[in-house]
Amino acid sequence: MTTIAILGAGKIGEALLAGLLKAGRAPSDLLFTERYDQRAAELTERYGVAGVDTPEAVERADVLVVAVKPQDIEPLLDLLADTVRPGTLVVSLCAGLPASLYERRLPAGTPVVRVMPNTPMLVGEAMSAISAGAAAGPEHLDLVEEMLGSVGKVVRVPETQQDAVTALSGSGPAYFFYLVEAMIDAGILLGLPRAVSTDLIIQSAVGAATMLRDSAEHPVILREAVTSPGGTTIAAIRELENHKVRAALLSAIEAAAVRSAELGRAHDPA
Ligand SMILES: NC(=O)c1ccc[n+]([C@@H]2O[C@H](COP(=O)([O-])OP(=O)(O)OC[C@H]3O[C@@H](n4cnc5c(N)ncnc54)[C@H](OP(=O)(O)O)[C@@H]3O)[C@@H](O)[C@H]2O)c1
Repeated sequence: MTTIAILGAGKIGEALLAGLLKAGRAPSDLLFTERYDQRAAELTERYGVAGVDTPEAVERADVLVVAVKPQDIEPLLDLLADTVRPGTLVVSLCAGLPASLYERRLPAGTPVVRVMPNTPMLVGEAMSAISAGAAAGPEHLDLVEEMLGSVGKVVRVPETQQDAVTALSGSGPAYFFYLVEAMIDAGILLGLPRAVSTDLIIQSAVGAATMLRDSAEHPVILREAVTSPGGTTIAAIRELENHKVRAALLSAIEAAAVRSAELGRAHDPA
């Protein structure tokens, strides 16, 4: 049995804990650490999983999943530095932190897998991209893929692609929320009550996303199917093209990747 400890059971850590339990892992095979006793007690009551301190997690777990905010990583690494046991797998969910940061601080040969998850993990629909660090092998990636598969979909990418992943799926949900917000406003402009406009757009987003995922059709085909000659959709598409929305998305996502690389360099002087 593999014992998994989640270090920092905040929003993402709790979502993973819930997903692992739902996927059939026994509460006794899971541990978590949390700074506040009251939050730890609540989590134990909700999930039946023991909250422990970091030294105990290191002692008992085969897999340490780091889910603290990136700005909290240094004190945690100080605690882990000399104590992580040989063979313990370290899985980092921290946005922008390179595997090399852990490799520099942890005992030589510690396998590290870097993950870029996204917030739909909270509803079991995460998109996670995983990358092996220098000492992580296929067996480690298999285990992490299985773990994260309990809260969504998983792809494997080389670590050099993690800035692009961050810009696409890491920040991606925010772009969709932004578009939905703007489309709800369009409904208000057209005189619809806000509640009606919100329902119309959210269900359209859910329906469109489900078609994209389940029909296996290219997005262009799906769009063309609702774009009749001389109709309403093409009138709207012309405005989107006039306002260079496609070019704006390309530039926006490129800017996010550049920023991700900048933030990553702060943790990786090499
Ligand atoms: N792409 C994305 O959108 C995305 C999405 C989700 C998550 N992530 C990554 O996931 C990680 C977690 O994010 P989150 O939103 O879940 O943050 P969060 O809700 O703040 O959770 C982090 C938790 O870790 C706790 N903590 C900090 N240091 C600790 C320590 N030394 N020992 C034990 N617990 C500690 C924090 O406690 P306090 O409350 O006391 O600070 C908090 O409960 C981040 O690194 C983030 O980059 C990325």
